[in-house]
Amino acid sequence: MGVSIRAATAADREATVGLWEAAGLTRPWNDPRADFDLALATLTSTVLLADDDDALIGSVMVGLDGHRGWVYYLATAPDRRGQGVGRTLMSAAEDWLKTLGSPKIQLMVRGDNAMARGFYAALGYELQEVVTLGKRLQAT
Ligand SMILES: CC(C)(COP(=O)(O)OP(=O)(O)OC[C@H]1O[C@@H](n2cnc3c(N)ncnc32)[C@H](O)[C@@H]1OP(=O)(O)O)[C@@H](O)C(=O)NCCC(=O)NCCS
Repeated sequence: MGVSIRAATAADREATVGLWEAAGLTRPWNDPRADFDLALATLTSTVLLADDDDALIGSVMVGLDGHRGWVYYLATAPDRRGQGVGRTLMSAAEDWLKTLGSPKIQLMVRGDNAMARGFYAALGYELQEVVTLGKRLQAT
């Protein structure tokens, strides 16, 4: 059947978090299950999944904040990398944002994630000379 993209449902939570863990995307200070639930509970965000038959092989979280589109939790299963899954997921995320009228897509990458930076550069993403600031709004 090949690779297909679909929006996640609540039933996909454990498999998706497992994929994020296998891809090294989780951090002790973030609750990935809460992140997944909030994305699905918010009208202008979602988690898109890549399936190959019944196997989950990739994910991307995408959302519109009212001004720009943002991407998080892009992951391809370790044994399926280099086969176009990440490109397909990013294309689906871009289409999803275009449908909502978002003029731009942005994302944050850790500075030392050379693999992801190379991947995004291959897809036409450019470094922006901005500094990202943050502040916690909920106790962790
Ligand atoms: C980043 C990641 C999602 C890429 O997924 P992937 O399925 O292997 O990527 P694709 O096979 O779709 O690659 C798409 C293109 O990027 C290129 N590419 C991928 N990694 C690259 C790199 N490090 N440097 C240069 N080009 C790269 C591929 O050659 C391919 O080019 P082509 O379409 O012209 O042939 C995957 O490596 C991953 O899950 N990494 C761990 C999680 C992570 O760091 N996520 C990003 C968090 S910000």
